[in-house]
Amino acid sequence: MDVNKRSLSPTVMEKISSLAKRRGFIYPDSEIYGGYQGFWDYGPLGVELKNNIKRQWWKSMVYNREDIVGMDTSIIMNPVVWEKSGHLKAFTDPMVECRECHKRFKEEDKKSHEHDDWTEPKIFNLLTEVLLGTTEPKEKAYLRGEITQGVFTNFENVVASSRVKIPFGIAQIGKAFRNEITPGNFTFRSREFEQMELEYFVKPDEAESKKIFENWKEQRINWYESLGMTAKKLRFQDHKDKEKAHYAKYATDIQYEAPFGWSEFEGIHHRGDFDLKNHGLSYLDQETQEKYIPWVIETSGGVDRATLFFLIDAYYEDGERVILKLHPKLAPIKVAVFPLLSNKPDLVKKAKWLFGKLKIAIPPVAWDDRGNIGKRYFSQDEIGTPWCVTVDFQTLEDETVTIRDRDTAKQERVGIDKLNEWFSAKLNDPTSE
Ligand code: GAP
Repeated sequence: MDVNKRSLSPTVMEKISSLAKRRGFIYPDSEIYGGYQGFWDYGPLGVELKNNIKRQWWKSMVYNREDIVGMDTSIIMNPVVWEKSGHLKAFTDPMVECRECHKRFKEEDKKSHEHDDWTEPKIFNLLTEVLLGTTEPKEKAYLRGEITQGVFTNFENVVASSRVKIPFGIAQIGKAFRNEITPGNFTFRSREFEQMELEYFVKPDEAESKKIFENWKEQRINWYESLGMTAKKLRFQDHKDKEKAHYAKYATDIQYEAPFGWSEFEGIHHRGDFDLKNHGLSYLDQETQEKYIPWVIETSGGVDRATLFFLIDAYYEDGERVILKLHPKLAPIKVAVFPLLSNKPDLVKKAKWLFGKLKIAIPPVAWDDRGNIGKRYFSQDEIGTPWCVTVDFQTLEDETVTIRDRDTAKQERVGIDKLNEWFSAKLNDPTSE
């Protein structure tokens, strides 16, 4: 990440974090006690957005494929795992301390500091320690620093218990923890975050595995674009040798052009046989009886970073009006239902009835009968609701409602009996997967 660009447009980040808090997307964790650096809580709309991202990812990685299965492994593992995986030795960042104010920084972040008198870099391990057991001294274990190792340690279990054959993948979504030296840029660098990862096991073959690696790069960047992320704000950045993780044969990042500079939010790594070899695991081809250590192509995305970048990318201002142009599949609320006037019982009754129906058909649905209709539209635009349905006097006569589109502000009259069809056609648009 280019930290020098950090201060270029701080107002965009301020606007987004303030909207996120005001409308219930993201709050600072433990805020009533002053917060806790590097930890965040997702509010009623944030949890919907994040779940929608995870759901779409799972759909494209597991349900739409025949060669990928899912898993959910434990956060705390036998500490031997972290020794074998190399994390106890190599999961580190160089840390420097400012001699004037004694603040500590990840070495690459020190450029943005006001003083310029630094200690020599010290190697700092990012694994978060936890103490377990009832007898002293308690046993030291670790919160997982990546969700990956649970997949590797279960490799033979999955092969033995399901019908997978190489090439195949194991997908997982879950929390990871890193004792980051300098958390920051809102949720971008947190100490607790979620990852969505695929470990794809292939035959050890240079040319073939490179082809599969290139193919996953394309699939992953296309996935972000298919969910509305602006293509020209996305790019690949290959790792130079000295930037590569301890396990990577070769690696590239998908970066987004955030207000604080181009920033990584998904890594595509060719991990070779590093992990399975370290854990002493291998694969037996049942047909040829050939035994070998598969190579691994990994796609490792951050759910929180994706959530942040989908929010930033969707943020538009039109005068006073703020619009979150989130893809309908990601929008936390799909539809809002209003009675045109809140003091007309017939309209309210009909609108409540329709609200109840749509809530079951395309949840979640919002209800709003406050203020005037214009204010209700503004309020829904700001949280990204793609469609607002209004029950008016004509509805009582001919069973039609108006649907107002968030992005064009255009209105269309549709029969109530056609609504489910109308919304499912929009939500299941096959050009966006
Ligand atoms: N298993 C490989 C792995 O963990 P990584 O590049 O260290 O690779 C993958 O992490 C993704 O996890 C990153 O691209 C990012 O989206 C997310 N991530 C990593 N550290 C993070 C942090 N401190 N806060 C939020 N997300 C983080």
